[in-house]
Amino acid sequence: MERERAQGGPLKTVLAQASPPAIERAGAILREGGLVAMPTETVYGLAADATSDRAVAAIYAAKQRPVFNPLIAHFADLETAQREAVFSDAALTLAAVFWPGPLTLVVPVSATCRISLLARAGLASVALRVPDHAIARALIGKAGVPLAAPSANRSGGVSPTLPIHVLADLDGCIDMILDGGPCRIGLESTIVACLDGPPRLLRRGAITLEALRSVLGHEIADSSHGVDERPTAPGRLLSHYAPRARLRLNVAATHPEEAALDFGGFLKASPSLRRLDLSPAGDLIEAAANLFAFLRELDAMGAATIAVAPIPALGLGSAIVDRLQRAAAPRGP
Ligand code: TXA
Ligand code: MG
Repeated sequence: MERERAQGGPLKTVLAQASPPAIERAGAILREGGLVAMPTETVYGLAADATSDRAVAAIYAAKQRPVFNPLIAHFADLETAQREAVFSDAALTLAAVFWPGPLTLVVPVSATCRISLLARAGLASVALRVPDHAIARALIGKAGVPLAAPSANRSGGVSPTLPIHVLADLDGCIDMILDGGPCRIGLESTIVACLDGPPRLLRRGAITLEALRSVLGHEIADSSHGVDERPTAPGRLLSHYAPRARLRLNVAATHPEEAALDFGGFLKASPSLRRLDLSPAGDLIEAAANLFAFLRELDAMGAATIAVAPIPALGLGSAIVDRLQRAAAPRGP
């Protein structure tokens, strides 16, 4: 028995360096239906056996996530992913070029698909990804099953890019956190649907529209700006990735009582409670990697408003702007 639960009480959440024995133990926990937060190159994921309705239900409970939001199933390679779904030529091309990596493909389920209906939210399609992270892939290998893994945060909040972010949101609700240090990219994967029609971009991420276009050799429909009431993608909820503080975007100057999320030193001269610069050099890759950690840090200071400098909406910048717009959107009840 790998899981530790005081009788009827909260789980004991173990934070462990991702050593081979720790990964072994995490694999055993997952086979028992437990929950393990794992590092990936994008953000930390909250992993469970994707073939088990019970294990997947535990993810929804820990995250307090609306059940209609389907999850991504993670695989060690394309071959194992192909058992679960039907890949069109376009899907195969994208997988061949971008896997392992920060791309999720939404594809029709196959007749042999074992992914839990709950993880798919009852849909006839399924979201699949092969992460480019040694620890995540070792864990999938040890678990011996595909792993359903949404970002390891409370539903609607800011995605975690460090183990302490996971601990802050989910301590006592999950079995284990594998510490793999900071996530390299820091934004969730790009999502592309390859269903009946031509491929459609559902969520922006590190693999840009331009990169997809050049690999496919044609335009790709951009459905990433959509807002869904009952979303096929939770990253498509209008209010998502939201800190507690209100966000004010594209500001030319801050107010003294505001916290400032800067880019390229733009707000340097402006008075603020505290200023964090996503990338003083104006590098979008560095900015993406810092985004969620800095939002959490500024939020923790208790400022009512975080003023955000303009970010160029080019390439990776458009994924950053997308997350900021959703974080700034009016909140639901
Ligand atoms: O980078 C990532 O993708 C991270 C790491 C942990 O892999 N995971 C992540 O998962 O961001 P999550 O659950 O926060 O986002 C999953 C997205 C949601 O927007 C969901 O609606 C969409 O995938 N999705 C899942 N299945 C889908 C389907 N059948 N059709 C359309 N969208 C789907
Ligand atoms: Mg998420």
